[in-house]
Amino acid sequence: MRQFPAFFKLEGARTVVFGSGIEAARKARLLVSAGADVLLVGATALTSDAPDVAGNVTLVPPSHAASALAGARLAIVAEDNPTAIALVRAAGVPLNVVDRPDQCDFTVPSIIDRGDVVVAIGTNGTSPVLAKALRTKIEALLPARLGDLAALAGRMREQVKAALPDFSARRRFWERVLTGRAADLAYAGDLEGAEAAMTADLSAPAGQGVVHIVGAGPGDPELLTLKALRLIQEADVVFHDRLVSGGILALIRRDADRVPVGKAKGNHSVPQEQIHELLIAAARAGKRVVRLKGGDPFVFGRGGEELDAVEAAGITAFVVPGISSALGCAASAGIPLTHRDHAQSLTLVTGHAKAGGVPDLDWQALAKRGQTVTVYMGVGTAATIADRLIEAGRGPEAPVAVIENGTLPTEKTVYGMLEELPRLIEVNGILGPALLIIGEVATPRARVSTPAATTTEAVPA
Ligand SMILES: C[S@@+](CC[C@H](N)C(=O)[O-])C[C@H]1O[C@@H](n2cnc3c(N)ncnc32)[C@H](O)[C@@H]1O
Repeated sequence: MRQFPAFFKLEGARTVVFGSGIEAARKARLLVSAGADVLLVGATALTSDAPDVAGNVTLVPPSHAASALAGARLAIVAEDNPTAIALVRAAGVPLNVVDRPDQCDFTVPSIIDRGDVVVAIGTNGTSPVLAKALRTKIEALLPARLGDLAALAGRMREQVKAALPDFSARRRFWERVLTGRAADLAYAGDLEGAEAAMTADLSAPAGQGVVHIVGAGPGDPELLTLKALRLIQEADVVFHDRLVSGGILALIRRDADRVPVGKAKGNHSVPQEQIHELLIAAARAGKRVVRLKGGDPFVFGRGGEELDAVEAAGITAFVVPGISSALGCAASAGIPLTHRDHAQSLTLVTGHAKAGGVPDLDWQALAKRGQTVTVYMGVGTAATIADRLIEAGRGPEAPVAVIENGTLPTEKTVYGMLEELPRLIEVNGILGPALLIIGEVATPRARVSTPAATTTEAVPA
């Protein structure tokens, strides 16, 4: 470590920035966000980059620079200005010169600001760009409301100290609540609930965990939400579906338990009731439970049933949406699901009824032109679906696309007409998981960016 990291209190402190360009305005804004009084030397106006801090910045002519530096806590020179550097040195004020680490008494790190939680990444001035790249990675892992949790912990500090005078008991308390249910409630924006959970834990340490029902998206790990990624990496146990891709499962912590409870069509490897029991038992054992489901948990995913069961057992549960396969597949294949010329509505239907076969859908409504119909779980019932739609008046020549393993390296997209849908599936060896898209939008188009492994095939003659 060649530099000593420290956080300076600047509330109400005088700071001086030299420069008239964007860099000076940015540094002024940063100092204002830390509560500093900023004297900006050399600018006649703030650049349009920093209009929001105008009220907190005093513009000072260069002739008054020496007096501006009197009593300053720190100074930043944000332009090529040897005179300014000499003035700061003469005043004995700690100095930062932008892009000149050799001239700096201190460097300004890359910052992640979550209120009371601030993460600063320094590279000793060697590579600010690397620091920014690291910041992006860390930023993705930190909950947006982390600062709220820290502030709550700060407010409760004295109360906790009084209730738990023993240091070790206090540490165990904080470890429990800052990674447990109270933290989850704070991250979800329920600060009252979080405070109540902390207070309750003070008198009776909570043994109960939480369940997060998380959408994993259609398969590409990069389509996970930031929240899903964080929860997967924090979980003690992950119960996952068959459709959750290997790339996503690889993101689970190595010491976490992974439990496949996958369902293949007609082959429920773990009955739904038993999945509920497993989730409840793991949460009761105090674990952070993630129930990881393909696509979105609330779109043909039984997420609602699992949420009801877990909540009925008195366990706190959260739902994290995922990119449903209709959206992921359509984007990957370049098919706009709505289009001002072709499709004014979008309907998501299942091709598989609970009791088996095709569900009782409103075929007349689905047969109308000017809309897109996406069918989940429709490979096995495609022939009946095509027949019903044609019987209800949809033209046999209506375009259809079938997308198998959408967003994965094995993605396959085939196009054809409604009347040939079953043959399209058979001839191209589509086994699923696959999504059917029916409507005028379901045609191949010149793609701007095509995933390398995507194949576009027409039905053979
Ligand atoms: C039980 S449903 C789950 C849907 C999921 N909750 C969602 O929002 O996508 C399973 C069906 O989703 C579709 N599906 C899921 N992942 C897919 C993928 N990567 N490519 C194509 N279809 C997919 C298939 O129709 C599959 O039969």
